[in-house]
Amino acid sequence: MNLCIVGTGYVGLVSAACFAEMGNNVCCVDVNPAVVERLNNGEVHIYEPGLEEMVARNRAEGRLAFTTTLAEGLKDAAVAFITVGTPSREDGSCDLCYVHQVARDIGQAMTEPLVVVDKSTVPVGTADQVREIIAEELSKRGASIDYDVVSNPEFLKEGDAVSDFMKPDRVILGTENENSAEIMRSLYSPFARSREKVMVMGVRSAEMTKYAANCILATKISFINEVSGICEKVGADVRDVRLGIGSDHRIGYHFIYPGVGYGGSCFPKDVKALINTAREVGHEPQLLAAVDEVNNRQKFAIAKKVESYFAQQGGLEGRTLALWGLAFKANTDDIREASSLETIKYLTAKGMRVKAFDPVAGPNTARELEGVQGLEIVDSQYEALNGADALAVVTEWNQFRNPDFGQIKNSLKAPLIFDGRNLYPPRDLAEAGFAYFCIGRPD
Ligand code: UGA
Repeated sequence: MNLCIVGTGYVGLVSAACFAEMGNNVCCVDVNPAVVERLNNGEVHIYEPGLEEMVARNRAEGRLAFTTTLAEGLKDAAVAFITVGTPSREDGSCDLCYVHQVARDIGQAMTEPLVVVDKSTVPVGTADQVREIIAEELSKRGASIDYDVVSNPEFLKEGDAVSDFMKPDRVILGTENENSAEIMRSLYSPFARSREKVMVMGVRSAEMTKYAANCILATKISFINEVSGICEKVGADVRDVRLGIGSDHRIGYHFIYPGVGYGGSCFPKDVKALINTAREVGHEPQLLAAVDEVNNRQKFAIAKKVESYFAQQGGLEGRTLALWGLAFKANTDDIREASSLETIKYLTAKGMRVKAFDPVAGPNTARELEGVQGLEIVDSQYEALNGADALAVVTEWNQFRNPDFGQIKNSLKAPLIFDGRNLYPPRDLAEAGFAYFCIGRPD
């Protein structure tokens, strides 16, 4: 099938590469000429395991192309995906200006019948707006061309994006049109190997499904983080509690790891957007508001532990913290809404120096925190330790999981670790002579 994908961010580029991998011809359109030029030179501008090779292979075999011109992308396309950004506004609502602009552009440029697919995460009702915008543009041109707008939210995770896309738990298709449903079903059949995995429903239900999925996942994380805070006060260990509750198959072990709060470009934004949608329609979303609040508090968990430890040792002024991890989670260079940013800003504002290391997110952090006094980003995890008063870990990269504790002890001024991801066994660290503070155990 010939496909057009508008927007080459995580969702757009991964979808494009994976559709091409299954033998479709995909033309990606992006308004940013620098991004298109890099992609045409074989450079992938985002870090995602396996993506660069897949893009290169499909480009070489002529199934994947990049352009800045929508008309070129739409040429012979049966389906056009909208995968542009949907940033948050100040009030937490979703800014749809890019989605609307693409809808206008499609209405102006399309020449053949087309299935237009909303793949970006967009509030309920957006597909109807896209449909109207295209209708307006077609009528301005006096053109009458068949089209439908389908909601097809994406559930991939950064860091596992390619494998999630290739083997989805489900494919959600929101459409009332049987013809569009058939086109989309056949496009997805090589990915969703059993037919039940493809779920066709109303457009608004599909849009809502995406928010409900992200919000329940965020709720699980805020729930366990809330429990971890209580554990610290009552002398329980949240890691045992997690195992204890996870063994009930109705609860399960997954996605209840306590930590430094959820970050990234999706959960924080989507929880806020659903809160906003609910309020717009006169429903006060009490649970979601609490999920968001708990998360905002949790992002400071490590900074607060560091602060309270040093409060008894003369304060933070003149101290240095070695920080392992900047990305919002492992296997990505994405630092959006990462706890590391709050940790660094909070502690440096109080006079602490931070020497930070991340396997890939250093350059993004340097750009984001340009001008923050007291922050140094270094090139190796062990270099960060030299002369530091303590080590704090906020991202669960594999290379931090089993470090050389002898070297850590020798490099730090004192054997002191704050662990925002519960990576290490407390007993082993105590035996090795470390003071060790983690999440959800009494300090
Ligand atoms: C999330 C969803 O998991 C995807 O299904 C969805 O498609 C995507 O958002 C999206 O809407 O586009 P992602 O943001 O890539 O994916 O990251 P996750 O792996 O879900 O992690 C989100 C955050 O939760 C991270 O900061 C992670 O460290 C944190 N987390 C996750 C925990 O603190 N504890 C857990 O048990 C799991």
